[in-house]
Amino acid sequence: MNCKKALITGGAGFIGSHLADSLTDAGCKVVILDNLTTGNLFNLRQIEEKITFYEGDIRDPEILDKAAKDCDVIFHEAAVVSVPQTVQNPVGSAMVNDIGTLRVLEAARRNSVKRVVLASSCAIYGDDPVLPKNENMEPKPMSPYAVQKLTGEFYARLYRNLYGLETVNLRYFNVYGPRQDPSSPYSGVISIFLTKAAAGQAPVIYGDGSQYRDFVFVQDVVRANLRAAVAERAVGKFFNVGTGGFIRIKDLWEMISGLAGVSAKPEYKPSRPGDIRESVANIDRARSLLGFNPEYSFEKGLKITHDWYRKKQTY
Ligand code: NAD
Ligand code: UD1
Repeated sequence: MNCKKALITGGAGFIGSHLADSLTDAGCKVVILDNLTTGNLFNLRQIEEKITFYEGDIRDPEILDKAAKDCDVIFHEAAVVSVPQTVQNPVGSAMVNDIGTLRVLEAARRNSVKRVVLASSCAIYGDDPVLPKNENMEPKPMSPYAVQKLTGEFYARLYRNLYGLETVNLRYFNVYGPRQDPSSPYSGVISIFLTKAAAGQAPVIYGDGSQYRDFVFVQDVVRANLRAAVAERAVGKFFNVGTGGFIRIKDLWEMISGLAGVSAKPEYKPSRPGDIRESVANIDRARSLLGFNPEYSFEKGLKITHDWYRKKQTY
């Protein structure tokens, strides 16, 4: 990777911290700006000597200027990431996900950063019955979160057209892997199920459990980011980052309880408002323009993640 210095917003979080590991390994100087709402410094302990960390908010232009100084690229990961949380607090989450994103783009412009790679989401497709989801489909957001991510994409493309800032939007599908924080009921489902399994407890399944997701392993998402930071033909575009496969939520619990050797039966509750039913990616565009190919099968990624959560119980 031909990057001298990179800023990762939200770099103490799940995806951002894995990205920080890979960038430091590649010899890039890494700066992180994170307010530690859902992120954790523990995620950065292995690289703490190598990075510059700013504890602060992406809505604060002064700290953003310090963090973005002399960077060639910004990876924008900071966000309110939980769909239900944005349903409960549409205005507060928009302040972070919309205004915060605009602040990041402004800081990039002021500091002559060459490229910004932004974390978007497959949530923007909503419940369109056409599957798999491809980038030419009309977005049908069903939650404030999805509207906010879509707004971020529009701003990013505007900054390219108005100010010549190179921007790339990555529409992540459901990312999983070590370090995903399971502590809130709004956390990613795999982190919650693995934590329940490790404690021998039953999970809650919202809806009938037949809804499905395209789960993509975090290392694959990191590689998509690294490609997006350099690929010539990526600029001004948005890409699905998934696998093209899917797992139903009830089958997910079967797999996890099998791995963990627990027999607890899930408790079923009504579906969550704003929840989408079916989500699976067409990744042809990312394959052809980013050279992106997922390397982790679901079985392999789940095994690595399961092993990590099992050991985590002993910390
Ligand atoms: P995460 O919660 O682990 O990471 C988000 C980080 O942003 C945290 O470290 C948090 O402390 C930080 N943050 C939040 N608000 C901030 C603010 N105002 N200022 C500074 N820092 C702030 O979540 P993640 O799963 O790593 O998500 C990273 C990005 O990927 C997010 O933009 C999310 O919307 C997007 N995304 C995630 C998934 C997924 O399945 N995990 C899927 C699609 C998109
Ligand atoms: C997740 C991400 C969001 C991202 C989106 C892309 C998190 C917290 N959210 O949202 O940032 O943009 O993927 O698709 O990472 N479920 C249960 N029981 C539980 C928890 C969840 O049944 O205890 C169900 C949910 O109702 C849902 C599915 O599992 O149907 C996935 O939920 P979740 O992991 O929260 O992901 P998304 O809502 O898809």
